Amino acid sequence: MDIKQIMRSCPVMPVIVIEDLDTAVPLARALVAGGIKVLEVTLRTPVALDAVKAIADAVPDAIVGVGTVVRPEQFVQAKAAGAKFAVTPGLTPKLAAAAREAGMPLLPGVHTASEVIAAMEEGFDAMKLFPAEQAGGLGMLKALGGPLPQVLFCPTGGVSLESAPKLLALPNVGCVGGSWLCPKDAVKAGDWATITKLASEAAALRP
Ligand code: 3PG
Repeated sequence: MDIKQIMRSCPVMPVIVIEDLDTAVPLARALVAGGIKVLEVTLRTPVALDAVKAIADAVPDAIVGVGTVVRPEQFVQAKAAGAKFAVTPGLTPKLAAAAREAGMPLLPGVHTASEVIAAMEEGFDAMKLFPAEQAGGLGMLKALGGPLPQVLFCPTGGVSLESAPKLLALPNVGCVGGSWLCPKDAVKAGDWATITKLASEAAALRP
């Protein structure tokens, strides 16, 4: 699957932070049960790559990827763990080259028109607008769609169930990202029913 197909497979890409490896598989199963199968596991914790591997092995219906990639070597590590895609908060020529070399579909982060153009120069036409709210949110995406209509965005950062519908209605938005599907307390408590409910609400944003 290329990155645009992955973006279109789910209206919301959950931004996942795994602190305890034992929660990775049940959390992934709870999200998939609610209809959210594209999962971005952020490389922010020591167990993140092990979590990706556990999900890739045990939850075949999930399309698991990695987020918060900031170092070139992480693409190869993520691929070895079973990640199908990667997300970065920003883009550098080194990261773009490393993703290409690893053959890893990448959703690079951008924040300005110049960064969008720089990412286009690296061959990307799908990007994460990050942090979306601070970048201008809905108004920014509408404005970028004028001169740069060929770019498909995944706005992430400050997006909620309430703000998502208007974003998803834009022609240049493929999906949105957000951490609201995986509240820390629910994950810690093993409250998978709550996670599945949040995932169902999110999946219903684009029936
Ligand atoms: C992140 O990378 O943490 C995302 O920006 C999540 O943002 P959110 O918590 O506002 O959804």
